[in-house]
Amino acid sequence: MEKNTFYITTPIYYPSNKMTLGNCYSTIIADCIARFNKMLGKDVFYLTGTDEHGEKLAKTAEAKGMEIKNYLDVMIEDIKDLWKLLDIDYSKFIRTTDTYHEKVAQKVFNELYKKGYIYKSKYKGLYCLPCESFWTESQLVDGRCPDCGREVKYEEEEAYFFKLSEFGDKLLKLYEENPEFLQPNSRVHEMVNNFIKPGLQDLCVSRTSVKWGIPVEFDPKHTIYVWIDALFNYLSAIGYASDDETNYKKYWPADLHLIGKDIVRFHSIYWPALLMALDVPLPKQIYGHGWLLLGGQKLSKSKNSLVKEIIDPRILVSRYSVDSVRYYLIREIPFGSDGTYSTENFLKRINTDLCNDFGNLVKRTLTMAQKYFGSIVPKQADLNNDDIELIKNVETAKNNVLEYMKKFDVSKAITELFSIFGFGNKYIDQTMPWNLAKDNDTRLKTVIYNLLETIKIGTVLLQSFLPQGAKKVLNAFGIDEVNIIQIAKFGLLKDGAKIGEVEMLYPRLDIEKELKELALLD
Ligand code: MSP
Repeated sequence: MEKNTFYITTPIYYPSNKMTLGNCYSTIIADCIARFNKMLGKDVFYLTGTDEHGEKLAKTAEAKGMEIKNYLDVMIEDIKDLWKLLDIDYSKFIRTTDTYHEKVAQKVFNELYKKGYIYKSKYKGLYCLPCESFWTESQLVDGRCPDCGREVKYEEEEAYFFKLSEFGDKLLKLYEENPEFLQPNSRVHEMVNNFIKPGLQDLCVSRTSVKWGIPVEFDPKHTIYVWIDALFNYLSAIGYASDDETNYKKYWPADLHLIGKDIVRFHSIYWPALLMALDVPLPKQIYGHGWLLLGGQKLSKSKNSLVKEIIDPRILVSRYSVDSVRYYLIREIPFGSDGTYSTENFLKRINTDLCNDFGNLVKRTLTMAQKYFGSIVPKQADLNNDDIELIKNVETAKNNVLEYMKKFDVSKAITELFSIFGFGNKYIDQTMPWNLAKDNDTRLKTVIYNLLETIKIGTVLLQSFLPQGAKKVLNAFGIDEVNIIQIAKFGLLKDGAKIGEVEMLYPRLDIEKELKELALLD
């Protein structure tokens, strides 16, 4: 029997009070995928949270003269508020400073040690403080950290090591036998050629110089390497190695770890190797999505601070609605690749897609339904070629949305989804209901019925992507459940049913004016 649960995770974020639109990407996409699976009737567990250990955070708190926990608490509340604002419907928010998580991290460290996968030695090497990552000489780019381009420091200290070098062949076999394990495919080549083929080295998994971390239980002057601690959040959050493993048994293995391409190495090399060592089943898929770029660079907390609205996504949400922000990110970044941010394109998308394609179709149809039939669903009569074509196009687009969402391809799915609204608008132009209203009442009834169905089907699918707008429209149809994919079909609307009103969905923008106003923000 096919498993009816769906466990999806985002990366756990380094706490920051400057979360950018780029940071919101993983969370928004994961939210769409989670909601979509709920709509398909699955029991979904959606995990997000924060990654709170490591020297960098401790140093920042110290520099601010703050108690580290207080410093973190304020930021975490801020991040939770942001997710609320973006309508992120997560099941659990994990903090790696939560006691239950710390216990699990210690337990797995002990277990790996007992099994002989962890041993004590000396670490001599290069460390990038901002990324909390160790690098070998050959991995550096121009002598600097290959991820962030910053300086690395030579460090030498007693440390525990994980026998990663034993896992090269097993990982190659994993990628070969399970092409779905790491997606998109290009990431596999990168991991194999840059890391596995040159030979994996054992991984340093503890530090004595890092104080803000989870102590190794049997040797407490060591703290657990922050990435090992962080990765195990995916298991501790669902009760693995705790007194109550119900959720672990129910949801593991995870269906999808959605992550950005910069952290693929940790998730597709370290993570499966650690799980193999522990004899824990592997997650079904790691998907390394692309970045939101600005001026060819990753939009990041420390750079690009000149563009205020993307550094503080709250500005875009408060001015243009949460749906606009979600729509832009889902649509503009081709899933798996990078996408470039432009405020102008963001505003244009609102006008062309949200106002014209979706908003206008709803407004025109409901206005006609009101004018001609007092907002009562009319009775459908015989179908002609225009109707048959519309129904076929909408059905095909719906099936394409379902297929793309099986592959988690949210950008292609939403493009197909909006084609449904496009078919509806084209059908209005073809059938010209205002002419039918003069002399062909039977035909008019069929046309309005088909338009209402088109909107209903499109909006049922849309609720995972743009929950707020979709809710307003679905309410007008008297639909308030979420797991309703079965009603996304023609012919199910009952004639005689009353259609409610829909308030303005997305106001049309004067783009020039908006750009000027945004430029004046400080
Ligand atoms: N703490 C680690 C993750 C540990 S998971 C066990 C981390 N945190 S992060 O805050 O730096 O990044 C979180 C996610 O945000 C990453 O997946 C990263 O790729 C993503 N993004 C950060 N900037 C981004 C863009 N500009 N565009 C898209 N995603 C980006 O890494």
